[in-house]
Amino acid sequence: MTDRWYEKAVIYCLDIDTFADSDGDGCGDIRGLIGRLDYLARLGVTCLWLNPIHPSPNRDDGYDVSDFYNVDPRFGNLGDFAELLHQAGNLGIKVIIDLVVNHTSDQHPWFQSARSSPDSPYRNWYVWSETAPDDRRQGMVFPGEQDETWTYDRTAKLWYYHRFYKFQPDLDIRNPEVREEIKKICAFWLQLGVAGFRMDAVPFIIEETEPGNPNSPKDMDFLTELRQYVQWRKGDAVLLAEANVEPDQLKHFFGDAGGSANRIHMLFDFMLNTRMILALARESAEPIIDGLRDTPQLPEGGQWATFLRNHDEIDLSRLTAEQRNEVFERFGPDENMQLYGRGIRRRLAPMLGNDRRRIELAYALQFSLRGTPVLRYGEEIGMGEDLALEGRNSIRTPMQWSGLPNGGFSKAGAGDLVRPVVSGGEFGFEKVNVTLQRHDPNSLLSWFERMIRTLREAPEVGAGSSKHVDVPVPTNVLVHRADDGTGTMVFVHNLGPQAATVDLSTLYPEAEMPNDVLADQEYSDLGKCDKVDVAGYGYRWIRLKRTA
Ligand code: NOJ
Repeated sequence: MTDRWYEKAVIYCLDIDTFADSDGDGCGDIRGLIGRLDYLARLGVTCLWLNPIHPSPNRDDGYDVSDFYNVDPRFGNLGDFAELLHQAGNLGIKVIIDLVVNHTSDQHPWFQSARSSPDSPYRNWYVWSETAPDDRRQGMVFPGEQDETWTYDRTAKLWYYHRFYKFQPDLDIRNPEVREEIKKICAFWLQLGVAGFRMDAVPFIIEETEPGNPNSPKDMDFLTELRQYVQWRKGDAVLLAEANVEPDQLKHFFGDAGGSANRIHMLFDFMLNTRMILALARESAEPIIDGLRDTPQLPEGGQWATFLRNHDEIDLSRLTAEQRNEVFERFGPDENMQLYGRGIRRRLAPMLGNDRRRIELAYALQFSLRGTPVLRYGEEIGMGEDLALEGRNSIRTPMQWSGLPNGGFSKAGAGDLVRPVVSGGEFGFEKVNVTLQRHDPNSLLSWFERMIRTLREAPEVGAGSSKHVDVPVPTNVLVHRADDGTGTMVFVHNLGPQAATVDLSTLYPEAEMPNDVLADQEYSDLGKCDKVDVAGYGYRWIRLKRTA
């Protein structure tokens, strides 16, 4: 047994500013989060991923950092943060933070200095061009909100490169001082006690940008260098990267050509994410079967992080136009539900018509597939979105704790909140909140607690491989298995509305005493597994055998 904690983790992603406000100023804070750690421990979370915590002008929800060595004063101070790490540690919860070093805010003192004079020590920390690069209208990440990737700076009298918004100038990774500074930032937070980093925009961090070349080379070796550095500082620290790249590129992010896992430990599985969404839209298992078949072989120690929702839009850009339209039609038919022409800015519960069976099915599926599951705050109670808010803010509304004013998120006046709480209707805090659900054994929250506990008892799931089991089933039904040295689990998920009966007797010779460890309802005994019933939108997690 290896002791790679991240292979067995359940990661919970949250924004401090919308989670819990302890001082009544309308903005969530670290003290508020500390007060909710018990809730997270009970849910079964073992690792928090905090969206950016640093001081920031906050024009991109904190992904525009103006000081890497501090916490945003709206959230508290470094003392509060150290206390959070301590209290979380007491409950067995690790904390990873966003490492946003592809760019800084244009308000960062480094950029302010860099633009002010050619002699600035920070001038070469950023990427400049004397003339307008021909490719400046290419490679935009936020079409509709961004017109170009190079902007003219009147003070510097130069063009600067920004892969994202123009207030996010890119750092130049070719500069050794920038590389050293990134390591120093990692070292600082590791020293405080974080367990690792969710690395933002990794394919862009390593870009050696050449003006006029939309396909500038990438320095993959920086990832090897950073991994080595981080590991020396803290042996079990983890890098979890956002790298939404072509499938054939993925393996280079895990390790170099030698085949060892010497770069990023974990990558978000964007490919599987879109396949799951397409599968849910079509009510067909095929996209997931394709996804499992196409999964690149990872080097030992490389791990996927699976997710259904994160803090951004659901990015469907890797689907064909036809597939994307299918998903739009089913889950985001109004233009206002779509974003950047490629994504959906909704939460999962409303996308699934608030149908409890389909919500359970979707999350049972995600958590049963290989990889470490990542859960976005509020999904465990089935929160909805607020489409009146701009862009991705629709799914960044305050956590709904109770039926108290502001959903128990804050004691401030409703007008002073960082963002309005979803209220009224099917998804309003009056109906959807933690307090109502925590004492109800049949609530979605209680189901999540049960499901995560079950997952903890099945170590073969996250760390092992997921293999499609090819038995004759209707196209709506997915059968897959997970094996490792500790045992075998088999999963039946029915993505369609019609009940089905599946013959799994070919697996029976391996079984000791097959039994359901999690299911949407009580089913009759499995017997020899030759008639395994599964309800419409139902699922069964079956333990076949345990060897350790
Ligand atoms: C990816 C993050 O997930 C997104 O929220 C952010 O806007 C960009 N990177 C820029 O940092």
